[in-house]
Amino acid sequence: MRRRLAVWIAPNSAEKLSARTHGRPPNPNSLYPVDMNSESPQTRYDTDALQASEEIRHQTGTKSFDIALTLGSGWATAAEMIGETVSEIDASQIPGFAASGVPGHTGTIKSITLPNGKHALVIGARTHFYEDKGVRAVVHSVRAAAACGVKVMVLTNGAGGIKEAWTPGTPVLISDHINLTASSPLEGATFIDLTDLYSKRLRDIARSVEPTLDEGVYVQFRGPHYETPAEVQMAKTMGGHIVGMSTALEAIAAREAGMEVLGLSLITNLAAGISPHPLSHQEVIDSGKAAEPVISRLLADIVAKL
Ligand code: HPA
Repeated sequence: MRRRLAVWIAPNSAEKLSARTHGRPPNPNSLYPVDMNSESPQTRYDTDALQASEEIRHQTGTKSFDIALTLGSGWATAAEMIGETVSEIDASQIPGFAASGVPGHTGTIKSITLPNGKHALVIGARTHFYEDKGVRAVVHSVRAAAACGVKVMVLTNGAGGIKEAWTPGTPVLISDHINLTASSPLEGATFIDLTDLYSKRLRDIARSVEPTLDEGVYVQFRGPHYETPAEVQMAKTMGGHIVGMSTALEAIAAREAGMEVLGLSLITNLAAGISPHPLSHQEVIDSGKAAEPVISRLLADIVAKL
């Protein structure tokens, strides 16, 4: 008897957004509460990203973007140096974005034209995993950037350093990560290769701008508490060099969306137990501010070469 192959026909055009989701049937084992007769989880979050990107493009007046930057603690003024700001919008006006809950984040989205004519989307609004809005909210800006046409995603953060040589104010390239959030932005049976997640090509470009840039493995903790000294030692034993509360989940979503990722941490403090004194958010903000002119120039010079 001839068997007919069951073909899942996507219900709307949103899945055209990504070859990855195109034609994929919903995962019957997914715990995500979706209507199996309707859309796959991936189609749903791509639809959300598409809606956000339409609004971003409309409100910024920029048809498509080549590169996106998420600016974490200490990196905000870099936006002013990378090119000419075409428009700036309030992130909370974009579907799926929320006003930033963290002091030191601007809460805006900017469209910037680089000296080489490329268009940069600068995201000053980051949702952290510890805000408990769900991992989709954490990576929504990355997916929206992908839906805006972005091919290179630059993720920056302020973080704690495990290497004692990294005094506060030192920028460090992220070479890889260890995700300790026990979560993933991927839903269903989505098997994405994360080898070379933090693109060697882009790290080499960054080092061509600043040959002294060191690199290390970023360990994402859930937060919002800082790590205990024992947790920092665990991260070190596991091969980590940088501790923080962002970036890894966003990088995974960026890779899923087919983007190349450049990760940069600003070491705002030595990590708990490595530092001789207790940690404070004020120290993170102050170190970020002090380092801002230098790291902003650095980032602008790197972006000009991407
Ligand atoms: N740990 C986690 N996140 C951070 C740190 C830290 O030491 N510094 C800045 N963000």
